[in-house]
Amino acid sequence: MMGSIDFVFLCSFTVSVIWAASLSPKTIEDSDPGFDLYMGYDNLEEYDNHPIQFDHPLPDWLKGSLIRNGVGRYEVGNRKVENLLDGFAKITKWTFPGDGTTSFSTKFLRTSFYNESMSSNDIAPYATLGPLDPPFTLEETLKALENGMDNPNVNVYNFTENIVVLYDLWIMYNIDPRTLNLQEKINADVPNAKMGFPYASPISCAHPLQEIGTEHHLTFLGSLALLPGLKHKLTLVRVKSSTDREMIAQWEVENMPYMHSFSVTKKYAIFLGSPYFYEIQRMLKNLNMADTMVWYPDKPTMIYLVELSTGKVQTLQTECMFTMHHINAFEMDDQHIAVDVSDFGEAGVFSRASVEVIRNQTLRNSLLKSQPVIKRYILNLKDNTVDVMKFPSPARLPFSSNFDLPTINEKYRGKEYCFVYGFSAMIDGINYSNSSIVKKDMCKNTTDRAWFMKHHYLMEAWFVPFPQGTAEDDGYLLTPVLDGENRKSYLAVIDARNMTLVNKAELPTTVPFNIHGRLFDL
Ligand SMILES: *[C@@H]1O[C@H](CO)[C@@H](O)[C@H](O)[C@H]1NC(C)=O
Ligand SMILES: *[C@@H]1O[C@H](CO)[C@@H](O)[C@H](O)[C@H]1NC(C)=O
Ligand SMILES: *[C@@H]1O[C@H](CO)[C@@H](O)[C@H](O)[C@H]1NC(C)=O
Ligand SMILES: *[C@@H]1O[C@H](CO)[C@@H](O)[C@H](O)[C@H]1NC(C)=O
Ligand SMILES: *[C@@H]1O[C@H](CO)[C@@H](O)[C@H](O)[C@H]1NC(C)=O
Ligand SMILES: *[C@@H]1O[C@H](CO)[C@@H](O)[C@H](O)[C@H]1NC(C)=O
Ligand SMILES: *[C@@H]1O[C@H](CO)[C@@H](O)[C@H](O)[C@H]1NC(C)=O
Ligand SMILES: [Fe+2]
Repeated sequence: MMGSIDFVFLCSFTVSVIWAASLSPKTIEDSDPGFDLYMGYDNLEEYDNHPIQFDHPLPDWLKGSLIRNGVGRYEVGNRKVENLLDGFAKITKWTFPGDGTTSFSTKFLRTSFYNESMSSNDIAPYATLGPLDPPFTLEETLKALENGMDNPNVNVYNFTENIVVLYDLWIMYNIDPRTLNLQEKINADVPNAKMGFPYASPISCAHPLQEIGTEHHLTFLGSLALLPGLKHKLTLVRVKSSTDREMIAQWEVENMPYMHSFSVTKKYAIFLGSPYFYEIQRMLKNLNMADTMVWYPDKPTMIYLVELSTGKVQTLQTECMFTMHHINAFEMDDQHIAVDVSDFGEAGVFSRASVEVIRNQTLRNSLLKSQPVIKRYILNLKDNTVDVMKFPSPARLPFSSNFDLPTINEKYRGKEYCFVYGFSAMIDGINYSNSSIVKKDMCKNTTDRAWFMKHHYLMEAWFVPFPQGTAEDDGYLLTPVLDGENRKSYLAVIDARNMTLVNKAELPTTVPFNIHGRLFDL
């Protein structure tokens, strides 16, 4: 029962590419050297605490483990998944014990989906975001409905005493950060939230946030109304441990927006509900996953501002926009809140990002209809209005306000801040492969910087502050880089102050594009 309900929404929680033509693989004609190691192809190798060497000694204060989630496999036996986000979850880890050594691990998550796929040498019947090639039989489809989705490949997070792997679903897993072994599945109850029938509550987000100044974390729960006349509900949830939850606020929404992240300040949690809706009745009517999420370019974005101390919800509206990643938010004064996000303008980019499109240079170069734009939404609480502000880019770096996968110095979470680090693709306006790690200065309009190298392929960069640092950008960015010419990956250490590469360690295998992660203190 729950399995099939999961399936309905899980399949749609991002975007599926059922309508994208399913093509068979062709020979690779590609002038982006090594791109085939970066995105859309399998890397089956695994390593367990393999020693690696940096070019220069690492500072001894750098301690902990950088753990990142992502995908590493699209094909099993004669079947493959078509949506890039349906690849099997593969975790990558770099451990810095603080004694000058570093070790590298990478391992597929041993979910039931993975285990059963390996033992049957086929993609096991579990729900996916997009279609498979060849598709499941009717019997397999029914089994997939029952099994639901089981592939948390988006993020890794620390819920106080547990490290969890998660995606945009309420269900997550604990993992053992030392071995990268999967531990128990968590499907926590939220007291008083009424998660069950006549609601189904599978929706959450892969980006929990710490409640500022506390040991608690915040996330949300999306509950879909299953009976006519009922309204969908959003719930802001306080996470005290990976199993202990508390409801802060619950409110009804006319439509259930797909939301991948949100913002916090000291006093508020802020949600941007773009007009990209889960439409359950479409799903039930024609059992067509692709039709479940609908984009309404003429509708506004709803903003829900929740006061953490009282649970009071204020609703505002702004332009039609679509963000995957909030950057940060802060209270400018008692009446104004700044919310910074990366706006894709439309919700279609992820539906177009199939394995087939990514593998074809011509097609992937037309993937981004327009670059994401960094914007500040200023909420005016007194008159319930919203101002939208864009940031100029200096002429020497025309792409410095066009990026996603933003990270900041986490000490500035929810506070006034200046620096964002992001991943900007297609910086020449032509080649998707030509990407850069941007440092955007939100406080000045002329000091942006960027780091990139010819035919080196990039991903999210994680900011590690210097222990004795005083300035916001006193720190290093850690990021895996794929050197396409040499067909090798390395872990890069970039000085965030001037965006120069200061150290690197070659890895024993290539690390394909991975999605999110962070440095944990173990
Ligand atoms: C795009 O990449 C190809 C292959 O690296 C290169 O030949 C071409 O010059 C690039 N185009 C631009 C505009 O940089
Ligand atoms: C998958 O198999 C491994 C052994 O290869 C086992 O340790 C793990 O617990 C299995 N996963 C699940 C979810 O049962
Ligand atoms: C890539 O896509 C283009 C445009 O659809 C097509 O003409 C070309 O044949 C494709 N290339 C390969 C190698 O499949
Ligand atoms: C990538 O884009 C930058 C900025 O436009 C350009 O300077 C560089 O030559 C491009 N690199 C490649 C490999 O095309
Ligand atoms: C930066 O540009 C924005 C938008 O053009 C403008 O509102 C702001 O005042 C500028 N900031 C500085 C420090 O010049
Ligand atoms: C970048 O900053 C560091 C620290 O201030 C300095 O050692 C290094 O020389 C700088 N690199 C460049 C290219 O300016
Ligand atoms: C997780 O967070 C808690 C509380 O902030 C901290 O004490 C603990 O060391 C963290 N664990 C890891 C592995 O980062
Ligand atoms: Fe994300």
